[in-house]
Amino acid sequence: MAKPAAKKATRKTIGVRAPKPSPASAAAESSVPHRLTRAQLIDALNKDLAKEYSALIQYVQHASVITGPQYDAISAELTVHSNEEHQHAITLSDQIDFLGGVPDVNVADIHISPDSKVMLEQDLEGELDAIARYRERIGQAEMLQEYGLRRALEDILIVEEEHARDLQSALDL
Ligand SMILES: [Fe+2]
Ligand SMILES: [Fe+2]
Repeated sequence: MAKPAAKKATRKTIGVRAPKPSPASAAAESSVPHRLTRAQLIDALNKDLAKEYSALIQYVQHASVITGPQYDAISAELTVHSNEEHQHAITLSDQIDFLGGVPDVNVADIHISPDSKVMLEQDLEGELDAIARYRERIGQAEMLQEYGLRRALEDILIVEEEHARDLQSALDL
């Protein structure tokens, strides 16, 4: 998977003349955000996709295993979250394809626990990470004038924020 992506990155950046580095421009560059390429955005979206797959699996497992009368409502909600993570994976996969990339089928780390409260903390950690990643990704889509992608990412972000609020209220935070 990594090899074709690297190849594509090279192909897509051919023809872009890099300015000759000078000590002055190197110093200036350290304070200026480096220009993102389309290939780098595709790589980042593929990492987001792997985390959507892991979130959907993690929610399926947690919804089944979580126990305790205080967690009845959130247990049903975790299944809803799982279905929404599945929708996010479909959206990201389509967007990666639209951008000319190949959607990966990697699954990121999955966190489980025998403790119901710890499960919810693991889920919340994943949501807060997703919120931070999608905020960054929306800015990157904007930078590359990919407005359709930006809109799709904004819709995902709204749902991740709802997920985080559901978990925070179940955890009495
Ligand atoms: Fe998601
Ligand atoms: Fe989520």
